[in-house]
This record gives sequence, C-alpha cells and structure tokens, in this order.
Amino acid sequence: MTRRILVTSALPYANGAIHLGHLVEYIQTDIWVRFQKMQPKDKVKECWYVCADDTHGTPIMLRAEQDGITPEALIERVHGEHSRDFAGFHVAFDNFYTTHSEETHDCANEIYFRLKTAGLIEKRTIEQYYDPVKQMFLPDRFIKGECPKCGAKDQYGDNCESCGAAYTPNDLINPYSAISGAKPELRNSDHYFFKLSDPRCQGFLRRWTREAGRLQPEAANKMQEWLGFDEGEGGANKLTDWDISRDAPYFGFEIPDAPGKYFYVWLDAPIGYMGSFKNLCSRLGVSFDDYWKAGSPTELYHFIGKDILYFHALFWPAELEHAGYRTPTGIFAHGFLTVDGAKMSKSRGTFITAESYLQQGLNPEWLRYYYAAKLNGTMEDIDLNLEDFTARVNSDLIGKYVNIASRCAGFIGKKFDGMLAATDAPWLKPLREVATSIADAYEARDYGRALREIMALADAANVFVNDRKPWELAKQDGREAELHATCSEAIEAFRLLTLYLKPVLPKVAEAVEIFLGIDPLTWSAAAVPLPAGHAINAYSHLMTRIDPKQIAALVEASKESLPSATDVTPQKTPAKPAKEVAVSTTAGEPGDACISIDDFMKVDLRIARVVDAGHVEGAEKLIRLSLDIGEDKPRQV
Ligand code: MSP
Ligand code: ZN
Repeated sequence: MTRRILVTSALPYANGAIHLGHLVEYIQTDIWVRFQKMQPKDKVKECWYVCADDTHGTPIMLRAEQDGITPEALIERVHGEHSRDFAGFHVAFDNFYTTHSEETHDCANEIYFRLKTAGLIEKRTIEQYYDPVKQMFLPDRFIKGECPKCGAKDQYGDNCESCGAAYTPNDLINPYSAISGAKPELRNSDHYFFKLSDPRCQGFLRRWTREAGRLQPEAANKMQEWLGFDEGEGGANKLTDWDISRDAPYFGFEIPDAPGKYFYVWLDAPIGYMGSFKNLCSRLGVSFDDYWKAGSPTELYHFIGKDILYFHALFWPAELEHAGYRTPTGIFAHGFLTVDGAKMSKSRGTFITAESYLQQGLNPEWLRYYYAAKLNGTMEDIDLNLEDFTARVNSDLIGKYVNIASRCAGFIGKKFDGMLAATDAPWLKPLREVATSIADAYEARDYGRALREIMALADAANVFVNDRKPWELAKQDGREAELHATCSEAIEAFRLLTLYLKPVLPKVAEAVEIFLGIDPLTWSAAAVPLPAGHAINAYSHLMTRIDPKQIAALVEASKESLPSATDVTPQKTPAKPAKEVAVSTTAGEPGDACISIDDFMKVDLRIARVVDAGHVEGAEKLIRLSLDIGEDKPRQV
C-alpha cells in the first residue's frame, strides 16, 4: 500500500529564540521527512511536514507586557525569527504556521464541543492563588515561597529546587507572587476539566499506549507507570482530570460557551498541528479529512522531546479519540541535548542560539551531520562534544566523503572532456545494494547506524582510490583507460554516498547534483549507474573543514551575547498530571556576573529609614535592623 504521511515537530514557544537544543528535534524530523520524500511515489505517495509557533499562555502575555507590545506583535516578530532560523538550518517545513489562527481556533472549539457532547467536560469550582495587585490568578510557576519540607526560600509553587520535594502552591510557606511580590489570596474560580478519570479514557489509554508502534518501549513503560500497571491493585483511576481552562486575563482562545474563561495553552497547542495542516490543505488543495478522520489509513507521527511525552501520549490521543478523530500512528520522543557533557549554560557560553551559530559563519550541515551521527531513535540524551564535533566532521565529511570527489573529478575534466567511462563495475554492487539497509535505518530513526554504514562505504571507496592511485596513472603513458575507469567509478561511488547522505546534507547534495549534471537524487537512483559518456561539470569545493578557532569564537560570542534573561525556560512537569505548565524567568546561574534589565525590573526596590541597628547576640556577623518603609510598624531585618 502506498503510504501517505503527516509529520510534526513540537511547536516552539513564541517567546524565546531557537537554540541548539531545539534543533535536535527539528533536524531529526527534517531528516526523516526528507528521507520519506526521496522514496518512490508508489511507496510513499506523499509526506507532509508541518509545525507552528505555540503562541498562547501566561508567559507570552507577560513577556509582551514587559516589552511594551501586544502579544500579537510579539508572536509576529518571533515567528519571523523562528522562520529565519529554521530556514538557516535547512529545516524544510511544508507549513510553519501559528496556533493563533482561525484554523486552530475552529478545531479547538470543535474538539471542545465534541468532548462536551461525549460527557467528558466537567465544570468545577477550584481554589487558586490570586495576585491582588496584578489582579490575576497565578500559575504554579508564578508563585514562590518557602519550601514546606526544607524551608528553602524563594522556591516555585510546584517543587523545591533545593530538596526536590514536590507539592502544590497551597503548601508553600509565606507565598508571594513572582510577578508583583504581593501576598497571594486564595480565591474560588470555575474551571473546566477534561475527564481523564472517566473509565472510557482510562480503558482507551491502557489499550492505546500498549499498541505496537505507538510509543517507544521506554515511553510505553513510563505510560504504564502513569496509568497504573493493571486494573487490579489500585491501578485503575490513576489518571486525574485535566484542568483545561484559565481565567482572564489570558492570551488564548476564549471558551465559546464560557465568557471570561480561556483554553489552557496545552489544550490548543497540539490542536495547532491540525490548524497548521488545515491551512496547508486549503493552500494546496489537500484533503484535511483524509488525514484526520477516525480510522484514516494515513499515518500521523509526532516528533517530540521526552519532556512533553505526557501531553502527547495521554492527553492528546484521549482528546482525539473521544472527539471522533484519528489518533497518532506513533509518537517519536528524543532525549535532551547536553553540550560538553553538561546542561547548556549561558555562563560557559554553551547556551548557543541558532542565530549565533549561523552568524559566526558555521556551516549548518556540520551540525546536521553531527546530530544525525548521534541520534539512534531512543529517548537517550545526546551530547554535543565540541572537540568531537570538530574531529568527526573533519574526518568523516572532509577526510572521507568529499575527498573522493576532490581527488578524482579533476582528471575527468582535464583528460576526458568531463565525460565518464562505464560505472557498473562489480565492486560498486554492494554500494548499491546497501540502499535497503540504510533506508531501514533512516526509517527507524537510527541515523547513527545509517551514517556508520555510509562511512564504511566511503572507507571502501577511499581504499579503491588509494589502491589505483589515479595521480600516478595520470603520469604514465598508455594507462588512460585505467585512469578513466578509476575516476569514473570513484565518481559513481561518490554519487551513491551523496544519495545516502542527502536527507542529512541537503545543500551539499544539491551542489553535487549540479556538479554531476543529474536530476535530484531519489532512493531508486541507487540501482541505476551513471551511463558511460555522461558529462559532469567542473568540480568546485563542496565543504570546508571546521577550524577549532571557529568553535572557540562561537562559545565566546555566546558568552557575550547573553540574550536578555527574559529568555524564558519553559517548565514542564510531565511527571504529574493536571498541572499548570508555565514558564519562569531563568534565574542567573551561579557565575553569571550580571542580571538582565528584565530581572532587575522585578526587584521591588524601596527606600527605608534605619530606625535602629543592633548587634545580634551570639552571632558573629549579624546585625538587626529596624527599617521604616512607611508602614504602621518598622520592619525587622
Ligand atoms: N510549546 C511546547 C510544545 C507544544 S507541542 C504541541 C514546547 N515548546 S519548547 O519550545 O519548549 O520546545 C519545543 C521542542 O524542543 C520540544 O519537543 C522540546 O522537548 C524540544 N527541546 C527544547 N529544548 C531541548 C533540548 N535542550 N534538547 C532537546 N530537545 C529540546 O515544549
Ligand atoms: Zn525544599
């Protein structure tokens, strides 16, 4: 059966720059999609790749406010930046849209009403912290206070970074609003819940998460843990209902039959996949229903990071199923990027944005190659070791791959008018036959294996060239035929390698297609040798080596160009259901000498009169101050 495939990457938040961590995902997905698009039409009829910016929620609303612009203006600007960065790394979406769109809005309303009709939406009154100064309910991540377990100060409302305890904001001691500093009040509010605890959802998810191919084995195990292993021994009803509404003020879609209530950003975010595709459909005349109706034979895959597995493997399929749509064929989760073995760090200069990488003049295909070499289709974290990056790219791409063409192309041009001899030599047969095995590796997202196989072929081709020594043949009379055959066969090997590398190195492949004077390479081209007499063009250099100085400069530049600290780090808490997932401003890491102006703006700065100052008995270095800040009583500090 010919496959029709819809592929997505997670929707990046519209309030931060794309960085090398994000790119693990977008490059991984792009490689898979490009591979599918190279398949013959009778195998893969079509493959669409859509994405969008994730534009709603409190953090984006507050960020726009801080910048003194409307949320619409903010998301518009960021959309431009994201589009530029993705294009810069050759991530070729068929549509890069926005969740703040009519299409997503329509789909969100539709899904909401269908779930409501199915009896899976419930209104309940909940008690929640409210900031009386800012006049809004506070997401967990915007409430801080002392940890109820260890007493550490300034901890977030959901867990303690000091002792690791998890709790709810109501457990915090001396809570305060991270936005205004005010003491929050508990207030009642009506919220809308998606009833995940309903036996229909539980039963469905228990089945769905175990179905072959839906989830990677590690992910399936995680889900069983979350769902409870079996219906017996307290396993059932482990899922709690999911709060899908937020009160005004909120930047998002108002719930159609509940004025003043908005869909929580994580409700409409995955629906943004549909919205983006719907937009593509209307532009290109593709049938939306073919892909989304229940029981559709088309395939749907979501590439995501492991931090958002919960949303994609539980909430999303349950929503789709009970709203009468098809569910994802598979969820492909990947691990997190570390740089030189550690979390990306602004002070060490390893928090590298897509923009600064490109601005430093580094070649995006170097990074695509390195990531591909490290990816294996599991949820393991992947490390960008900067020294290894340089060594690997230089040795594989320049030393092995490009080297074949650069050593042989010149002779074809100079001695044979650019014309090839026959290229169907027996030694090339295994290089053609391996097309299937490399395809299997790409399909399984084991790009590391694909590249190992490809580099083994490159080694074989180099051994061939080294043995025949075209540079010596060229000096000897009467050996033209040998020279011609050697160089032609090496060029054919180079063509095959290029074909196999094309999903990873699309721009190099394009340049090679021009150099060889051939049609865009597709997978079936592996079986068809270049014919004798085929004319190639003059060779010009395809790729330069990485100079370690460039990497040093990139790290240095990333230290200097610390983006303003409002560059927010999303906090996702997939380990526990039904939790506000919001974004908090990154606190400066130890070692960061300066805070940004945005952090400074959050400081509640007041002038006080020192009424009294005294030594604290028994302490060596403590002074007790009595401060008058215009309140009834002086404060003790
Ligand atoms: N907006 C949500 C996704 C909604 S999908 C309906 C979100 N956005 S994000 O910008 O924080 O992340 C986008 C994707 O990039 C996620 O899949 C996330 O896992 C991935 N990554 C973000 N940082 C990453 C690393 N450091 N390493 C690897 N992937 C990372 O989540
Ligand atoms: Zn603690």
